[in-house]
Amino acid sequence: MLAVEVKNIKKTFQSKQATVEAVKDVSFEVRKGEIFGLLGPNGAGKSTTILMLTTLLQVTGGSAKILGYDVSSQDKLVREKIGVALQDTGIDNLLTARELFFTTARLWGYSKEDSINRTNELLELVGLTEASERRVKTYSGGMKRRLDLGLSLVHSPEVLFLDEPTTGLDPGSRRVLWEEIKRLRDGGVTVILTTQYLEEADELADRIAIIDNGLVVAEGTSDELKASIGGDVITFAFDSDSDLKLALNVITEGVQDKNLIRITVEDGARKIPQYVNQLTEKNIEISSVSASKPTLDDVFLKVTGYRLEGSDNKETNVEKVED
Ligand SMILES: Nc1ncnc2c1ncn2[C@@H]1O[C@H](COP(=O)(O)OP(=O)(O)OP(=O)(O)O)[C@@H](O)[C@H]1O
Ligand SMILES: [Mg+2]
Repeated sequence: MLAVEVKNIKKTFQSKQATVEAVKDVSFEVRKGEIFGLLGPNGAGKSTTILMLTTLLQVTGGSAKILGYDVSSQDKLVREKIGVALQDTGIDNLLTARELFFTTARLWGYSKEDSINRTNELLELVGLTEASERRVKTYSGGMKRRLDLGLSLVHSPEVLFLDEPTTGLDPGSRRVLWEEIKRLRDGGVTVILTTQYLEEADELADRIAIIDNGLVVAEGTSDELKASIGGDVITFAFDSDSDLKLALNVITEGVQDKNLIRITVEDGARKIPQYVNQLTEKNIEISSVSASKPTLDDVFLKVTGYRLEGSDNKETNVEKVED
């Protein structure tokens, strides 16, 4: 049985002012014990998808099953099987981590004694034992994210949903969380996470769906996605704008990215001299040229037409590539 089976789900928000098709048509399958990454920019529909799959938002169309249970008609059963760490959590900052774990365990129906044990176990698991008596408002971003993760694990869910678990964290804290998520997967938990970091999807997810503008535009393992581009990526760099413009007329299949032109070809290393000759014949000065295997970044550019940069700044990390 699949851990998650999503078929053509849709979400339309309707208000007097506007109609927003947040999720237009999203389908994917997640096998048990996998880490599945939903990769996409701000506003792609990631959180809306997670909210529907975790029964917190009703679907407008299509259907989704978690471990065989339908999110619409069997929502209570679904909630028993899943853990969720949302992007915007309403955690009570005035409580300590120990109090939060204990209260959450009690809410899930554990006895007092079991709740104390579960609290100690999970504090240890997410590395918060030492800080457990401190109010959560004194925690760093990384500690709060580890707390969110820990709280989503209280009732030992089989399927875990994490909405942008590492957004805003420094690279070191991000790695710590990646290791924790991998350990959970290795312990048999199925993980569905959203991210806007290419590196995160590449490193962490066993399979990836790229979501853009409410639609899944590509799906597969990181290697499959890269292979789907085929061949090598040749990158030319130019120092002057005029050379860049002239070069675009020569390398007509090239895609511009700032002062670079990229082109995907079979057997890149062999083709480089050919292109260099064409450019130098026209007196175009190239500042550098290289060939490399496609990255997930190249895949993203190909399927969406723009680049998703792994920046921490949520407002500026989507950059349209001019053509
Ligand atoms: N309750 C709502 N009412 C109206 N529109 C909404 C609502 N929730 C989300 N949207 C819109 O739906 C689209 C998708 O939003 P969503 O939060 O799912 O994106 P996201 O991929 O999670 O983005 P981010 O990376 O910024 O978290 C956006 O255009 C958003 O403005
Ligand atoms: Mg979101």
